[in-house]
Amino acid sequence: MTHYQSSMAEKTLVILISGRGSNMEALLDAKLPARVAAVISNNPQAKGLATAQRRGVETAVVDHREFPDRTAFDAALAVQVDKHRPDLVALAGFMRVLTEPFIEHYRGRMMNIHPSLLPEFPGLDTHRRALATGSRVHGCTVHFVTPVVDSGPIILQAKVPIEPGDTEERLAARVLKEEHRIYPEAVRGFLEGRIRMGSDGAVIVDKAH
Ligand code: GRF
Repeated sequence: MTHYQSSMAEKTLVILISGRGSNMEALLDAKLPARVAAVISNNPQAKGLATAQRRGVETAVVDHREFPDRTAFDAALAVQVDKHRPDLVALAGFMRVLTEPFIEHYRGRMMNIHPSLLPEFPGLDTHRRALATGSRVHGCTVHFVTPVVDSGPIILQAKVPIEPGDTEERLAARVLKEEHRIYPEAVRGFLEGRIRMGSDGAVIVDKAH
């Protein structure tokens, strides 16, 4: 392959989900400069699998309950992901904690969307916790995945004001809208070579393009 051909080669994205798949759908809708080679779920019941199939995207299930431990599950998952030689792996509501070898294998080429303004509220129940602490502002974060859960280098964030009388559901819906906006934006930046993770782990955003 000549340099010209390789630099023009179509990029490949693999999306990992566990449930509803609305962030996955936002990525499919975004007309990204990449082929979504597969949507893979650890949960055979994930609603997003049917959505992906309807849209003609290959799907696979690696059911974590069929493996004795996280290491065995992650090894099987990596086989499924690597079949597609992805340039980027996008975690989109993927609800399993991944082991360090898996994360290191995809260092600098795996992103996650998290429903809070990290480093605030890593983990679960972010909307409830944001309401409980009386914060005025909440939001979402796209970050590169590194071994400590929800603490990788931040690529993009969107703030969402907390309104008087907000419920968890209302707040979650407003945050989700922003997730659907910033996740494709971050993925596009990566695929176009404008966003990357440097060797020191910091995010590099090239504004010259
Ligand atoms: C999103 O809020 C995402 O940030 C979080 O889990 C939710 C998944 O929703 N990690 P969906 O499956 O993308 O609809």
